[in-house]
Amino acid sequence: MCGIVGVLGQNEVAPLLVEALKRLEYRGYDSAGIATLNDGHLDRRRAVGKLVNLSDLLVHDPLAGKSGIGHTRWATHGAPTLTNTHPHRAGPVAVVHNGIIENYRELRAELASAGIAYHTETDTETVALLAQHHLDKGASPEEAARATIAQLEGAYALCFLFDGEDDLLIAARQGSPLAIGHGDGEMFVGSDAIALAPLTDRVTYLEEGDFAVLTRTSLRITDAQGTPATRPMRQTHIDSARVDKAGHKHFMAKEIAEQPTVISEALGAYLNGENGTITLPEGGINFAGLERITMVACGTAYFACVTAKYWFEQLARLPVEVDVASEFRYREPPITEGTAALFVSQSGETADTLAALRYCEGEADIILSVVNVDESSIARESDLALPIHAGTEIGVASSKAFTCQLTVLLLLALKAAHARGHLSEDGLRAYLVAMRSLPGMLNEALGIEEDVRGLSQELSKATDVLFLGRGLMYPMAMEGALKLKEISYIHAEAYASGELKHGPIALIDEKMPVVVFAPKDALFDKTVSNMQEVMARGGKIILITDAAGAKDAGDGTWQTIIMPTIDPVLAPILYAVPAQLLAYHTAVAKGTDVDQPRNLAKSVTVE
Ligand code: F6R
Repeated sequence: MCGIVGVLGQNEVAPLLVEALKRLEYRGYDSAGIATLNDGHLDRRRAVGKLVNLSDLLVHDPLAGKSGIGHTRWATHGAPTLTNTHPHRAGPVAVVHNGIIENYRELRAELASAGIAYHTETDTETVALLAQHHLDKGASPEEAARATIAQLEGAYALCFLFDGEDDLLIAARQGSPLAIGHGDGEMFVGSDAIALAPLTDRVTYLEEGDFAVLTRTSLRITDAQGTPATRPMRQTHIDSARVDKAGHKHFMAKEIAEQPTVISEALGAYLNGENGTITLPEGGINFAGLERITMVACGTAYFACVTAKYWFEQLARLPVEVDVASEFRYREPPITEGTAALFVSQSGETADTLAALRYCEGEADIILSVVNVDESSIARESDLALPIHAGTEIGVASSKAFTCQLTVLLLLALKAAHARGHLSEDGLRAYLVAMRSLPGMLNEALGIEEDVRGLSQELSKATDVLFLGRGLMYPMAMEGALKLKEISYIHAEAYASGELKHGPIALIDEKMPVVVFAPKDALFDKTVSNMQEVMARGGKIILITDAAGAKDAGDGTWQTIIMPTIDPVLAPILYAVPAQLLAYHTAVAKGTDVDQPRNLAKSVTVE
């Protein structure tokens, strides 16, 4: 989603702004722009499409200036056109915005009645027009920005640049993340610390309602009540080098291939090799005292939670409720005593998940999060944040973050099972030994890639695909369907295999590929019965199973993919690989933009 940068520099800022925007590309965007104070006067360059279009424009039409703001836009209000591209300008004010101004229609109507016209379809232009309106009435830039913000409802991270004010940036946050970077005689603003990494490793995160006035040598913050506030400066540990594809055609391919390594790192962070126990960050979790866990997340992270529900309930006998964040936050569910609230998020900035976390504050016994970005809002606002150690994930479609989330969630479930007396020392040790073999097994599983590549050529011709699974393989079917639709744009749906007869079987004909996840576990025979029902109606089965499963049920399938044999409890972590590879190679066969699929954003910071 939209990314923001701002620089009060000692040198020309246009290249710094573009570089910082490149580091925000992973969030997803469809146009980009920058504004600087060129000889004290506002000027801007904007381009639709990829950042390279903006860079090319700047080669032919450079922008001078030592202070500036920049933006990558993921369209919400108004199409991705040049007119709607940020920075938005109204006379002496330029502004960049991430979020949604919910009352922009009312504000526009007020401006219109004062004779002020607007020229774009965006909610953001209203912010620039309001600031200009206040300046026209004699307000200083700071007063104009404050008065503007007081009128806004909704979510925003904003950065203002004013004509003639070469040593001033104003930033404000409500609902969308914003970080301030400290340099030597320089000051920066960014949607996250990743954007600022080449510029500084000293970062202050603004809190909800904060308003910040920056010069090159000072930072003054006031809180939502207008009271001066001090926010800690943190040292970040983000690599300033931009992550590259390491020889792969796409980031997603690299991230799929990295899974053995990152899962090994996640295991190393939580497993105590000497005594075979699971170590949690300081504070820990009193699993024995819990009555339930409420898990909340979006998209792929939600499917990680659904998988974890099976683990916690079966292994630890701990009831789990799982919700998508956008439903949870407005349903007003009661949070009763003994509840741990657990939020799973790769980015740690997903607006709905963060809002759900805030809903549980003061209600749940403990707020836990499983995050990849350990300096994110969700991590910072949790009582205990559990990092997944996946490393930066650039591909918009989550792959390695999903398997690392599963790894950490399984470790938690095992720890809970042991703490609640449902798993002996020996039993725990046996699971941990099995988990230590995961990186090797993932390497082996990646060996199916050639088979999947061939199959994907055929799959790319389909218009609809069904995914089926039972037990732990049901959430895997959901994740497989999501991956396929988001990067190949093929319509895909997932069902619990047992649900097939209750409706979806009507869809089956000889054109319908059906992907079945079925390792030879206790539920295998039941899934195979459902599979036979599909084959009897001409459906084309892609069976993903192990050697024993293939021997028993591989006859008559369209294709059988044979996975390494694994303990059924650990199978979701391994079976994510074929789900990812199938989607990836189908998307490559279709020639879609795998890393930045249309309409999608990596970090969904608006609801
Ligand atoms: C799918 C995908 C999304 C995210 C979802 C939540 O491949 O990546 O569905 O899982 O937007 O994002 P996070 O995990 O950052 O909260």
